[in-house]
Amino acid sequence: MKKKLFIKTYGCQMNAYDSARMADVLAPFGYAPVDAPDDADMVILNTCHIREKAAEKVYSELGRIRQIRERRAAEGRQTVIAVAGCVAQAEGEEMRVRAPFVDIVLGPQTYHRLPEMVARAARAGDRSSGVVATDFPVEAKFDELPEASAPQGPSAFLTVQEGCDKFCTFCVVPYTRGAEFSRPAAQIIAEARKLVAQGSVEITLLGQNVNAYRGTGLDGERWGLARLIRALAEIPRLARIRYTTSHPRDMDDALIAAHAEMPALMPYLHLPLQSGSDRILAAMNRGHRAADYLALVERMRRAQPALALSSDFIVGFPGETEADFKATLDLVKRVNYAQAFSFKYSPRPGTPAALAEDQVPEEVKTERLHRLQDLLWEQQLRFNRSKVGAVIPVLLEKPGRHQGQLVGRSPWLQPVHLDAPAASIGRIADVVVRAATVNSLSGRLAAPAFKEDAAA
Ligand code: 5AD
Ligand code: SF4
Repeated sequence: MKKKLFIKTYGCQMNAYDSARMADVLAPFGYAPVDAPDDADMVILNTCHIREKAAEKVYSELGRIRQIRERRAAEGRQTVIAVAGCVAQAEGEEMRVRAPFVDIVLGPQTYHRLPEMVARAARAGDRSSGVVATDFPVEAKFDELPEASAPQGPSAFLTVQEGCDKFCTFCVVPYTRGAEFSRPAAQIIAEARKLVAQGSVEITLLGQNVNAYRGTGLDGERWGLARLIRALAEIPRLARIRYTTSHPRDMDDALIAAHAEMPALMPYLHLPLQSGSDRILAAMNRGHRAADYLALVERMRRAQPALALSSDFIVGFPGETEADFKATLDLVKRVNYAQAFSFKYSPRPGTPAALAEDQVPEEVKTERLHRLQDLLWEQQLRFNRSKVGAVIPVLLEKPGRHQGQLVGRSPWLQPVHLDAPAASIGRIADVVVRAATVNSLSGRLAAPAFKEDAAA
């Protein structure tokens, strides 16, 4: 009989990808995904540590899952509870103390051992077996995972790199995800081919530090991200390639040249800046100054004039003065972003900045966040409006909210709403943009909308 598997995913695309892989690992053991935890034989919380109070949120969710476990136990049924991801990695044994009913605590590097851990947990029955696996046997992880099985649709994600050696002073990733590790190119290309065979026409390469990619190439040499992208671009029917997240320090000449030369590489770059103040950038250990970032943006735009930029910002980092914050606003004005995420600094236990004494008061952070977001939204709206009247290629991804409507993505990652037949999902259509809001575009199919039809 099929067993029911419920996975709740917090946080980033890397986590969404990991959740899908955990489902893949468990599928051969009879676990099929379900949408709710109430009747699940196994519950996995795949957690993320980047945002505030992440651990507390996980513990309160665990309280709810525990009730489900107790109700099912009264009916003579077992529920295996696992916590995965960064909170699991950071809490480790501590989680077993605070939530002893959790069967399995596993860090991001141990997913391939999940079936063995589940078997142990199932044997232990109602007594929690207490498997804690949060070590970092990085190399083994990608080798032992089965290849992704479920089709991801027109736009797919593919992890090429994990971990981070940068140690920004606010960030937990180097501690929770471990050292940088790149998958061999052969594995990545094989997985990309499979995704394309399953109908994906766009692939986003994922990594915490994706442009630090240094994997073994097909020729046995170390390949950088640009070389990998060139190899992937040779896959027939793979029309669009993206990558995220990049660090300004790792944007090398080869990658900039790839943006100039490769039509499949989308003209969009998520390039976190965090702060526009050199003093704060140094305190964050970002390893570059504001002027370096601006110079890089200029080179990127010379290489690809259509490039849209996106970023992450932190306001209220310890010691940030009004003048530092103004430097961030100034830099944002000079770059002109198409999209951006901004956060109030939140101290993460175990990171150097959490120990700083000059923490910024909460109300100052809130006020700065609003000012920054007002500016970023204004820029985002202006960028979106700049496309009104243009004919742009849109990858049709899924049904929209209304009957007959589809949602697709522009080359600049804007969601585009339009009327189109459901059968055209997965195709790239020329769309006349008619209106823009802060968050999306709307338009209609151009005539002819599909290049293949026009040629026929
Ligand atoms: N506080 C606030 N924002 C943070 N980020 C990472 N750590 C913290 C923190 N401690 C943000 C950064 C990063 C994004 C993924 O999350 O901007 O680029
Ligand atoms: Fe965190 Fe900095 Fe590494 Fe990004 S580069 S994952 S912010 S330590």
